[in-house]
Amino acid sequence: EKGGYDHFMIKEIHEQPNTIRDCLRGRLDVEAGRITLGGIREYAANLNNTDRIVFVACGTSWHAGLVAEYVFEELCRVPVEVEYASEFRYRNPVIREGDVIFAVSQSGETADTLVAIEGAKEKGAIIFGICNVVGSSIPRASHEGVYTHAGPEIGVASTKAFTAQLTVLTLIALKSAHERGTIDDKRFRELLAELYRIPEKVKQALDMDEHIRKIAGKYKDAHSFLFLGRRYGFPVALEGALKLKEISYIHAEGYPAAEMKHGHIALVDENLPSVFIATRDSSYEKIVSNIQEIKARGGKVIAVVSEGDDVIPQMADDVIEVPETDELLMPMVSVIPLQLLSYHIGTMKGYNVDQPRNLAKSVTVE
Ligand code: F6R
Repeated sequence: EKGGYDHFMIKEIHEQPNTIRDCLRGRLDVEAGRITLGGIREYAANLNNTDRIVFVACGTSWHAGLVAEYVFEELCRVPVEVEYASEFRYRNPVIREGDVIFAVSQSGETADTLVAIEGAKEKGAIIFGICNVVGSSIPRASHEGVYTHAGPEIGVASTKAFTAQLTVLTLIALKSAHERGTIDDKRFRELLAELYRIPEKVKQALDMDEHIRKIAGKYKDAHSFLFLGRRYGFPVALEGALKLKEISYIHAEGYPAAEMKHGHIALVDENLPSVFIATRDSSYEKIVSNIQEIKARGGKVIAVVSEGDDVIPQMADDVIEVPETDELLMPMVSVIPLQLLSYHIGTMKGYNVDQPRNLAKSVTVE
C-alpha cells in the first residue's frame, strides 16, 4: 500500500506530479484557452462581482490561503483577507451580504473551519469549500466548491493536499479574473500553459531528493531553523517551518525575509541555519541582500534557487535548484524541497514521520 516507499509521507510527496495532473484534468484546456469548474456554477456571478474575499482555514490549508491571497489580488484585483478559522469564529468579524468565503480544508472536517463558515453563512456570505475528502462536512455546509482530487492523504503532515489546494485556487482565480476582465487574454493563456507544465516541473524538483537527503544529514542536529521568503516565497517559508516542526520536532520559524531586521536577526549565529526561498522573481535582488545579511553574521544558509542561478550559490552554504516558472505558480514547485528536507531529517532522527506525536489527521475538536 506504500507502493514500494518506506512511508506514506514520501509516497505522497512523490505522487504530486500525478495529483496535480489529476486536479487539472477536465478543468484546464490550454488549447481552447478555457477553465471549466463544475463546482462553481450557480454562484459564479457572486464570486465575479464580490468586492471582498476571505479565506478561512487552519495549518497548512491556511498557508494555501496565504498564497491564494496574493494570486487573487494580483489577478482579480479584489481585496482578500486570510483568517485562522479559530480566530475568525470567536471574534465578531464584519461579514456583509455577498462577501465570498473560501473554506480550505483537506479533511473537510476541521471543527473550527466548519463552525466559522456556518456562522458566516447565516450572515449572508457565499461559501465555497475547497476540500479533498469527498462528501465531508465542509463541502456539505458550503454553497458550492471544488474538490482537490489528491486522493487519500494518509501521512498526518499535509503534502500533496497542499499543492492540490494551490492548483484549485489558482484555477479559480484565473477563471474569475478572465470573467472579470482584470487579466488580458495573452497573460491568461500564458498562465494556463505554464500551469499545465507544473506537474513536470514538480517532477524535476523531486529529482533533487538524494541531494536534499545529503543536506538533511548536514543540518539534522540543529536545534532551530529559520525559513525566509518574500512575496510568493513567504507562505512557502511558513509551510517549510511547519513541516519541519511536525516531522522532525525541530523548532522553526517562518518569516517574510525583510522582517528579520525587526527582531529575529538577533538569533543568527553559526548554529542557526536559515532556509531561503530565493527563486528568481520580482523580489530576487532583495532576497540576495537578505542572504548577505545572514552570511555577514556567520549564519548558515540553505537556499532554494532557480535553475542556473550563479549568484546565490557563491554565497549560500547549500543550494537546491528548482526549475523556473511564473512567480505566481512557484509555490507549487518551491515547497517540494522543503517537504523533502523535513522528511529526511525526521527519518534520520528515527521518528514516525507518518504519525508524528501529538498530531491528528483531522482536528474535529476545538
Ligand atoms: C499540517 C497539517 C495541519 C492541517 C490542519 C488543517 O501538515 O496537517 O496543520 O493542515 O489541521 O487540516 P484540514 O486541511 O484538514 O482542515
